[in-house]
Amino acid sequence: MDFQIGAQTEQEILARIAAAENEMQLEVLRVSELGRNGRITTIARMVGGLPLEQRKHHGAIVNGIKERIATAIESRKEALKERRLQAGLSESDFVRYTNKTVVPYIDVTLPVLEAPAEAGRLHPMSQVIDELTAIFADMGFRVAEGPDIETDDNNFTMLNTPVGHPAREMHDTFFFPPQPDGSRLLLRSHTSTVQVRTMLANQPPIRIITPGRVYRRDWDQTHTPMFHQVEGLVVEKGAHLGHLKWILTEFCKAFFEVDDVKMRFRPSFFPFTEPSLEVDIQCRLGKSEIRFGEGEDWLEILGCGMVHPNVLSNCGLDPDSYQGFAWGLGIERIAALKYGMPDLRDFFEGDLRWLAHYGFRPLDVPTLAGGLSA
Ligand code: DAH
Repeated sequence: MDFQIGAQTEQEILARIAAAENEMQLEVLRVSELGRNGRITTIARMVGGLPLEQRKHHGAIVNGIKERIATAIESRKEALKERRLQAGLSESDFVRYTNKTVVPYIDVTLPVLEAPAEAGRLHPMSQVIDELTAIFADMGFRVAEGPDIETDDNNFTMLNTPVGHPAREMHDTFFFPPQPDGSRLLLRSHTSTVQVRTMLANQPPIRIITPGRVYRRDWDQTHTPMFHQVEGLVVEKGAHLGHLKWILTEFCKAFFEVDDVKMRFRPSFFPFTEPSLEVDIQCRLGKSEIRFGEGEDWLEILGCGMVHPNVLSNCGLDPDSYQGFAWGLGIERIAALKYGMPDLRDFFEGDLRWLAHYGFRPLDVPTLAGGLSA
């Protein structure tokens, strides 16, 4: 038997050592050559079984090779370590950055990573819009939409708020520069614009909701310059305030998933409704969170009322035949109330830690039957 390890084999091993990119590749190499079942170790073991004379001769050769390989591994290891320290990387990061050759390596002590579809989160705004759409759909409402960029007419004039009307001051609106004809487009300051669009395009009975973005110049813990409202509109013969109150109460019970919600209907003013009401919901306003179902504070969540006869006739409907009621509800407010978020600005900061905490699993679609926020 020939125990010569060709010089070529030794050269080849030394070349692979020199080419190792990180300590882990080196270790894999060491184990495959010098480990308990490594190539050189196996040969050394066989040499051990030879007659004395041959053992001496071949033993010296094998040991020489073993030592040279071990020394080469050590010095390569030092060089790689130095390079890794200079790069300021941990051993595992260095392995990750330098592994061009795929080395089978599984760290069984690491927690199992979630698959992308599992790790992704639905923004609470998307979740809450799905939740409230499910509730209103169950009551027979359909979703209507309108653009974010609107005409002054749809945002104000058609809604009984002509130029010069003091109620325009209630909205700090973002206007675009004037168009050639002098009119100015704007970012809609409420979803009530879709009431106009819907009544112009449809005959009663009308039952719609409009979840969407709205814009106002505001920025504090409970206001953001872009926020979401869900508008509701019902127009049909005989619609009255009792219907409106019932719908809003039932909505709140379903949304907050409780049997009883403390709500307060206060008289108010909106140019497009008569009478007008504001609805508050009982809660506790803490420094770091808003808690629902306890406390003596009231948080305004929506404005509502009977559609003003002028609005009906502006939209081509006869106010003597048809009655309507409508509401506009702040979605961030009710989301924060339900899920205990302290600051509405966080909704739009894009902070992944916030999203991981408050976000929802994408496949848990809210339904009334299966649970809204399971
Ligand atoms: N558009 C109002 C706002 O943004 C809210 C509102 C009040 C909407 C009364 C309505 C309504 O539909 O009837 O402040």
